[in-house]
Amino acid sequence: MLSEDPSQTPVSEAGLASILRWYVEMGVDVAVGDMPRDYFAEGAAKAAASDAAPPAEAPAPVAETDPDAPRAQRTAPRLGPPAALPVRSVSGNGSVSPRDALETARELAAGAQDLNALRAAMQAFEGCALKRTASQMVFGDGNPAAKIMLIGDAPGAQEDRQGVPFVGPDGQMLDRMLAAIGLDRTKVYLANVLPWRPPGKRPLNSPEVVVCLPFIQRQIALVSPEVIVCLGDVATQALLGVRESIPRARGKWFEYREEVPDKDSRPIPAMAMFHPTYLLKAPVNKRYAWQDMRALRKALFKKGLC
Ligand code: URA
Repeated sequence: MLSEDPSQTPVSEAGLASILRWYVEMGVDVAVGDMPRDYFAEGAAKAAASDAAPPAEAPAPVAETDPDAPRAQRTAPRLGPPAALPVRSVSGNGSVSPRDALETARELAAGAQDLNALRAAMQAFEGCALKRTASQMVFGDGNPAAKIMLIGDAPGAQEDRQGVPFVGPDGQMLDRMLAAIGLDRTKVYLANVLPWRPPGKRPLNSPEVVVCLPFIQRQIALVSPEVIVCLGDVATQALLGVRESIPRARGKWFEYREEVPDKDSRPIPAMAMFHPTYLLKAPVNKRYAWQDMRALRKALFKKGLC
C-alpha cells in the first residue's frame, strides 16, 4: 500500500516549533523571503552572462586641458569605485576566486578617497559570499572625525536588520562600557572587520577575513584615529597580527601599522579587549574589561583626548 504524501500531512504546532528550532540551530534564523532562493544558481547565471557579454567600449579620453569636456570623460585619476566588481575568474559555483577577490578589494579600497566612496566601493564588491546571505551591508558608524576607533568582528542579527554596527545586546553592553569612561557614539567611531553578517553568526573563516581586510584597513586610514581598540580575537589577530588569544592579549597595547604605508602613515596605538559578546556570555570577565577601560581612559587622558 502507498503511504500518504507527507507534504500533505498537517504538522502539529509542536512539530512546527521543532522544525523552527532545527532551522535556528542550523544557522537559518532570518527569513528573507517566502520562497527559497538558489543563490549558487543565480551567481553562476550572472557569471555566464558576464563571460558572454562583449567588452564595453571605453569612452575616448578627453584631454584634461579641455575646459569644455564633460566632467565624467576627463582623464583625471578616478577617485570613486567602478560601478561593479570586474569579475576576472569564476570558480565552479559562480563565485570569484579568493585571489581575484582580494586584488579587487585592494583596488576598490585604495580608490576610495572618503568614507562615502568607500561605502559605495564595498557595496559594489561581489567577492565575499557573506554578502549573498546578509540582508544588507553594515558600514562603520559614530563620529567619522573621532580620535578613537573601536573595531569588532562582524555584524550580528540586529545589526544586519538595521544596517548599523553594535546595536544588539552586545552593542548596548559596549555603550555601557563606553559610558563608564565618559564616551559615547558621538566621540568614537565603530566598525567591523567584516561588513556582512555570517549566517547564524557562525565563526568567520580566514578567507572571508583576508578578502575583506583592505576595506577595514582603508576605513581606518580614512578615519585616521589616534587610538584603536580591537574587540575580540578576530580584530586583534587580523589587524594587529597578534597571535596570542584574547585572554592573554587583552589590556596590552600594540601598534597598528598600515600594510602599505605612505608618507603620511604612522603607527597607531591599539589595545586589545574582550569582545562584549563574550562578556555577555562570561560576565565574570567584566572585571578585566573594566580594568582595560580604565587603562584606555588613562591613555586618552594623557593624549588630551578626554
Ligand atoms: N559584534 C560585532 O563584532 N559587531 C557588531 O556590529 C555587533 C556584534
